[in-house]
Amino acid sequence: MKKVSVCFVCLGNICRSPTAEAVMRRLVDEAGLSAHVSIDSAGTGDWHIGEAPDERAQRAGAQRGYDLTPLRARQIAAEDFHTFDLIVAMDDANVTALEQVAPSARRDKIRLLMEFAPQLNERVVADPYFGGTAGFETVLDQCEMACSGLLAALRPQLAE
Ligand code: 4NP
Repeated sequence: MKKVSVCFVCLGNICRSPTAEAVMRRLVDEAGLSAHVSIDSAGTGDWHIGEAPDERAQRAGAQRGYDLTPLRARQIAAEDFHTFDLIVAMDDANVTALEQVAPSARRDKIRLLMEFAPQLNERVVADPYFGGTAGFETVLDQCEMACSGLLAALRPQLAE
């Protein structure tokens, strides 16, 4: 079986992308594919490097059984476009920032997470940082749906 690697990216790497990482990790574990799918996350910005996820993201995740506590924020780098097969962004601003960092031949690795949940008809995972707790629930709902779609999309590649 082949291996696939995915890095989720948002702005700060403390709310959305660590949530997506935790959701994807559980789906991959439950599918018995953890030896074949590597998962990471990063931010386009550098403000929160080294920090644990936002407490609101940790709390909302914990209520659904996701443990975000071991994660630490880092900033995306050009090397990540060599390391990972897919760079999965939360919103259009993330895509624009990623296009600045990506070696031009690797820009085709950039995707929007919500492409993998076409049934929701939502283009982006909105930034919950300056909002209330409901935003973190929406992030989890979107990540659960889209990561499930992403895993389904990866399965044929894993079987190649
Ligand atoms: P994230 O949320 O991109 O989902 O991690 C944010 C975290 C921090 C900031 C903005 C968004 N900030 O402005 O510091």
